[in-house]
Amino acid sequence: MDELPIWSGDDVVRVRQHVRVVAAASGLSLVDQTKLVTAASELARNALVHGGGGTARVEVVKSANGKAGVRIGFADDGPGIADIDLALTDGWTSGDGLGLGLSGARRLVDEFELTSKAGRGTSVVVVKWSR
Ligand SMILES: Nc1ncnc2c1ncn2[C@@H]1O[C@H](COP(=O)(O)OP(=O)(O)OP(=O)(O)O)[C@@H](O)[C@H]1O
Ligand SMILES: [Mg+2]
Repeated sequence: MDELPIWSGDDVVRVRQHVRVVAAASGLSLVDQTKLVTAASELARNALVHGGGGTARVEVVKSANGKAGVRIGFADDGPGIADIDLALTDGWTSGDGLGLGLSGARRLVDEFELTSKAGRGTSVVVVKWSR
């Protein structure tokens, strides 16, 4: 398991690059690598912009039927998300973004788990499986 900091735009770029390397090594197709990298990029940016910085934990996992996958956990200690359903709505943003990062990321991965409470930070765990 690799833990990467997310405190700057350069860190977001490093998370992207690291996820690409791990996804390729784990045997994800080029298309699936790109989907995971895109999702990771949005979630890392959210941790930075909305969460005030945090970490990404990247690891290779094996499913019960022997498939390889990549799991990434993003965590921040920011203000949290009061209404998760609203945050996951296409086009909803609390700022001046497009409001497509969270909803788009969810569509690009196989598993998506968002845990957050107002005032308690945000955790998003995603998994992409090889097929
Ligand atoms: N880590 C986080 N901490 C706190 N709030 C968050 C976090 N991630 C997302 N949110 C909230 O959910 C909303 C939707 O996130 P989403 O990524 O979809 O849109 P955005 O970041 O505003 O714009 P963009 O389309 O540029 O990503 C954000 O505007 C923000 O209010
Ligand atoms: Mg976003």
